Amino acid sequence: MYTSAFCRIYNEYGWNAYPEVFVSQLLEYLSDHGFSPKTHLDLGCGTGVLCGAMREAGMNTRGVDLSAGMIDIARTHFPQIPFETGDMTQWIATSPVELVTCTGDAVNHLPDLKAISHMFSCVRRSLSANGLFIFDLLDEAEIPCDDPFEMDDGEMHTCFRTVREGDDILLHVMVTKDMEIQVNETIRERLYPVQEVCALLEQAGFHILRRAHRLNEAGGDATTWYIVAQANQ
Ligand SMILES: C[S@@+](CC[C@H](N)C(=O)[O-])C[C@H]1O[C@@H](n2cnc3c(N)ncnc32)[C@H](O)[C@@H]1O
Repeated sequence: MYTSAFCRIYNEYGWNAYPEVFVSQLLEYLSDHGFSPKTHLDLGCGTGVLCGAMREAGMNTRGVDLSAGMIDIARTHFPQIPFETGDMTQWIATSPVELVTCTGDAVNHLPDLKAISHMFSCVRRSLSANGLFIFDLLDEAEIPCDDPFEMDDGEMHTCFRTVREGDDILLHVMVTKDMEIQVNETIRERLYPVQEVCALLEQAGFHILRRAHRLNEAGGDATTWYIVAQANQ
């Protein structure tokens, strides 16, 4: 779970750009394949950007996230959308939805394959028959373990550093102001083999429609895995 201080950094330092870019690919994928879901749930919804865009596209949407700070920001951005604090390894929708998404490495935040398997079962139970589940997964090739990335806005100094420890990826974030530390936090993510994740999906009652490094045929040299699965009847 992120602290509220880290959630503010997430919101202010450009990470909302990922769901902003992703949403056009998602809408294109749905339209190209003849899917027109009317109900949507975003797990690990963060600051709510994807839900906001899906609402604009006409869907009845909602978001769930473990971090209360993210949910507070999402509610401020989009007061019309229901957002809830919850753990996606246990959370089940009270009425079935036609599309579930989980993006921006949210699956990589889960601690082990057992947690992923629990999450998939919950998603299956939240979906209507033939409902779609679309998520992303970090690929080993994209982990940037390089020099620290630093930003200075005149008042605050922020330093991000990514370190790989086996299959764990640690993102260290430190914010200082007037030589005093304001935030010193480490976010832990984990790399999972895509084959094992897909096997868990099938065990949970899905068939896989797409597993590729981009959601659509066009696109740049992306390395993230995008997985589209459909609930079996
Ligand atoms: C990198 S952020 C991505 C947020 C958003 N999907 C986006 O694309 O901007 C990962 C999110 O997953 C959430 N998260 C991590 N573990 C979770 C869990 N077990 N249940 C629900 N949300 C979780 C975190 O709180 C965080 O908001």
